[in-house]
Amino acid sequence: MDQTSSRPDGIEVVFSPATIAERIEALSREIMAAKFDRLLVIPILTGSFVFSADLLRGLHRAGLSPEVDFLSLASYRRGTKSSGSVDILRDMELDVSERDVLLVDDILDTGRTLAYAKDLVAARGARRIGTCVLLNKKVRRAVDISADYVAFDCPPVFVVGYGMDLAHRYRELPFVGRIAEA
Ligand code: IMP
Ligand code: MG
Repeated sequence: MDQTSSRPDGIEVVFSPATIAERIEALSREIMAAKFDRLLVIPILTGSFVFSADLLRGLHRAGLSPEVDFLSLASYRRGTKSSGSVDILRDMELDVSERDVLLVDDILDTGRTLAYAKDLVAARGARRIGTCVLLNKKVRRAVDISADYVAFDCPPVFVVGYGMDLAHRYRELPFVGRIAEA
């Protein structure tokens, strides 16, 4: 089955599996070159779980052996609009004090989620904080923040797939897609 035949109706491919895979190799080498010490990778759930899984294996191929712990945050509570506040749904298990950490998220949009996560690990005493996102949406930033590692700049449209959802659907798609205009 090719990629087109496994694409649900009304979803257009924005970044293909091959494009994503190639970018992850480059990103992994960049992160390797940054020489983090005893790196702890922190995927921000839920949206980043697919990207993080692929990135972790890219980091392994680049020669890194990071530890991993998850932080589950929610900022989108209804539909496609950001509520403006961030909640911890499930906290991390590991102590980040004096550690080099890499926060990984799916999308940097208003910036509230990543800023919240950064402030949280900084308040807990992390020594060095890197940030990595699959997609950078530049136009809706509400907080002054940028990511250290960005896989792709993304157009200001709602995207799904590759871990990202619309009302809990489409996370399983192997590509980043957008809902086509009716
Ligand atoms: P921010 O806090 O506004 O930067 O939003 C970041 C979070 O919002 C991401 O981690 C995503 O979970 C979610 N988000 C933002 N834009 C999209 C989108 O186009 N599709 C799916 N989720 C999105
Ligand atoms: Mg998210």
